[in-house]
Amino acid sequence: MEAKWVSAFAVIAILYLSLLLLAADSLDDGKTLVKKVKGKKLCKKTEWECNQWSVYCCNETISDVFQVYQFENLFSKRNSPVAHAVGFWDYQSFILAANIYEPLGFGTTGNKTMQMKEIAAFFGHVGAKTSCGYGVATGGPLAWGLCYNKEMSPSQSYCDDFYKFEYPCTPGAEYYGRGALPIYWNYNYGAAGEALKVDLLNHPEYIEQNATLAFQAAIWRWMTPVKEGQPSPHDVFVGNWKLTKNDTLAKRVPGFGATMNLLYGELTCGKGDIDPMNVVISHYLYYIDLLGVGREQAGPNEVLSCAEQGLFNPPAPPSTTAAAS
Ligand SMILES: *[C@@H]1O[C@H](CO)[C@@H](O)[C@H](O)[C@H]1NC(C)=O
Ligand SMILES: *[C@@H]1O[C@H](CO)[C@@H](O)[C@H](O)[C@H]1NC(C)=O
Ligand SMILES: *[C@@H]1O[C@H](CO)[C@@H](O)[C@H](O)[C@H]1NC(C)=O
Ligand SMILES: *[C@@H]1O[C@H](CO)[C@@H](O)[C@H](O)[C@H]1NC(C)=O
Repeated sequence: MEAKWVSAFAVIAILYLSLLLLAADSLDDGKTLVKKVKGKKLCKKTEWECNQWSVYCCNETISDVFQVYQFENLFSKRNSPVAHAVGFWDYQSFILAANIYEPLGFGTTGNKTMQMKEIAAFFGHVGAKTSCGYGVATGGPLAWGLCYNKEMSPSQSYCDDFYKFEYPCTPGAEYYGRGALPIYWNYNYGAAGEALKVDLLNHPEYIEQNATLAFQAAIWRWMTPVKEGQPSPHDVFVGNWKLTKNDTLAKRVPGFGATMNLLYGELTCGKGDIDPMNVVISHYLYYIDLLGVGREQAGPNEVLSCAEQGLFNPPAPPSTTAAAS
């Protein structure tokens, strides 16, 4: 008698467990479509995020690993009354903007730790470049990322005539710094606009009016080589970069340091342990801690820093300045 009860119970338990497993399966299938192309597994999500066939869409999406409360933690002072872009930046705009680049690996490469590290690294640059924090600011100097969305007192309109055929300046347009990884100069607005299919050459002001576009332009910069033949900041960060002999000679190694070298090496790299470099590194480490990954996962100083690295893009000698960048 008793044995019967036990086996009946076991049967029910097994049924219940398999139901749970089935439910988990169909939940998975409900969100992710999978196919194989030449032995490669490709996925796309049925929701709007990561909805193009890609190996990267088989993994968790950015909004799976990075949620609104985390965005609020990272940029906790951005809407304080003394900030300069109150109400402009929000989580939703970032997630919308990231969507174009998730199928290409932005925030979707590697395991969850790598995903979080890339988000922290990207925001490390963004935070450092848009901060209005200073030594004694409440919350500390690192809590003030996304305080700005544009350069406050531009000293010029950043029109480089060398590009007058490719990216002619629009009369009256000002190409001062705007956005999350601020864009300067007509040719950078031109190139970003081409990539995003928005007429930024005629309307650079769109970047300071639309946070989604501002984040898109920043993620475009992170995902795109600054010069043809070079890796993108994303590539050097996630390990998609084949080092050349020149890289080795110039002491360039994969990691956060090399991302600074690509984005603004001239200001930060190859000059020893200087402030402009350390400020960016500090933001990255602050964010990686807040995301719960922990700065010990950021690697040793050799990969974090670019203090001793030769520049990817050294400034051209004066006679050919206009041909640079
Ligand atoms: C997907 O995630 C797994 C582990 O979570 C990782 O090993 C793999 O590299 C990721 N896929 C891609 C294409 O990065
Ligand atoms: C995630 O991947 C990194 C290599 O990119 C590896 O060192 C680490 O152990 C992995 N973490 C987990 C939790 O699998
Ligand atoms: C902001 O930019 C995004 C991305 O380019 C675009 O889809 C959206 O329509 C823009 N919003 C407004 C109000 O123009
Ligand atoms: C390596 O550096 C030399 C000297 O700076 C340069 O002429 C050459 O084009 C570089 N090669 C590559 C592949 O970048």
